[in-house]
Amino acid sequence: MRRPGAFASLARLQATAYQLFRGRCGAKGDSMAVLIRIADFHDDMIAWRRHLHANPELGFEETATSAFVCERLSEFGVDEVHEGIAKTGVVAVIRGRDGGRRVGLRCDMDALPLTEQTGLDYSSKVTGRMHACGHDGHVAMLLGAARSLAETRAFKGEVVLIFQPAEENLGGGQVMVREGLFERFPVDAVFGLHNWPGAAVGSFAICTGPIMAATDSFVVGVRGQGGHAALPHTTSDPLLAAAATVQALQAVVARSVPPREAAVVSVTRISGGDAYNVIPDAVELWGTVRTYTPEMRKLCRDRLEAICNGVAETHGCTAMVDYRRGYPPTVNSDVETDFAASVAADIVGESRVNRNATPSMGGEDFAYLLEQRPGAYILMGNGPGDGGRVLHSPFYDFNDEALPIGASYWVRLAERFLAS
Ligand code: NI
Repeated sequence: MRRPGAFASLARLQATAYQLFRGRCGAKGDSMAVLIRIADFHDDMIAWRRHLHANPELGFEETATSAFVCERLSEFGVDEVHEGIAKTGVVAVIRGRDGGRRVGLRCDMDALPLTEQTGLDYSSKVTGRMHACGHDGHVAMLLGAARSLAETRAFKGEVVLIFQPAEENLGGGQVMVREGLFERFPVDAVFGLHNWPGAAVGSFAICTGPIMAATDSFVVGVRGQGGHAALPHTTSDPLLAAAATVQALQAVVARSVPPREAAVVSVTRISGGDAYNVIPDAVELWGTVRTYTPEMRKLCRDRLEAICNGVAETHGCTAMVDYRRGYPPTVNSDVETDFAASVAADIVGESRVNRNATPSMGGEDFAYLLEQRPGAYILMGNGPGDGGRVLHSPFYDFNDEALPIGASYWVRLAERFLAS
């Protein structure tokens, strides 16, 4: 834990003052209320974001990123900085007036194992490492909000800033929860945000209930009896069993999941065999299952296992199903979702907030935080997703025009949540 000490103070009134901030944050003709102080930080946020972009680190390896975050937080004069939560995670506390509630604001910090192909002058310096999901922008926005909140402190209670490691596949959010995140920082609610290419800068989308899916995966080993391809009657062909299994698994969604529910069962890899004239002994199938509720999650798993075993047996083979539970669904609570949407509307206007967003079948480990506390995860427009500029693409780059919008959302959310 570090206590930077210095209590920065600027006019508190700035926190609640707005101006129409034109030109840098959106399409022609748009005007949005970005906090004055945040607009002042835009160039700094761009510099932070591009520094992080050029120096990406994978999950649980974000040591330089964490150090950068801690340095900035210390400069801003936040009250507490706690390092080393879930290895490279950082949690900071900013106190306002005495009493009041606590609110958690969370961003993710990790990059992806991709080699960047944008050709930008601040491209990744590391081959095979890239901020291709915009977590560099997420960190920069939360830092911008931290700076403003530490200056103005126009709220009652505490803002808890959660810089989470390892969102991509490694479940850093779950590790933070296991290491006592909410026992040490007992927030009343927690909020998350992700940029969304393909939606206009200055727009937000959210929904109550599940907004992202559970992300389970499976590996199925189909074992038979190989032999000469010219003598198939002397074999139990696992390739034929595997092919039939891929077909039969389509029946899980088509015939077991109720039509008004949503689920995905995708087989994504088949491997086995070495020669055109040899029937192999074994074949392996990989795939993923996406669901929004515990009931559908269990149903899909049960049906998948039954189909794999049954089809294999039909072909004189056996199936070994290794079903791996991934992230749970990300479930927004009702009150906090309405609140988050109204905060977004404060910044960009009600017409630019979609309160009935279509949930994504992607996954998000903020789900683990929402299992512990009420809260809401919102999607923020990041501009056109053309030219391959989509999440997890080597051509993607976070849109810097969105930085003051996201940071203003965080500040406004904290100030409203802690208004009384
Ligand atoms: Ni992401």
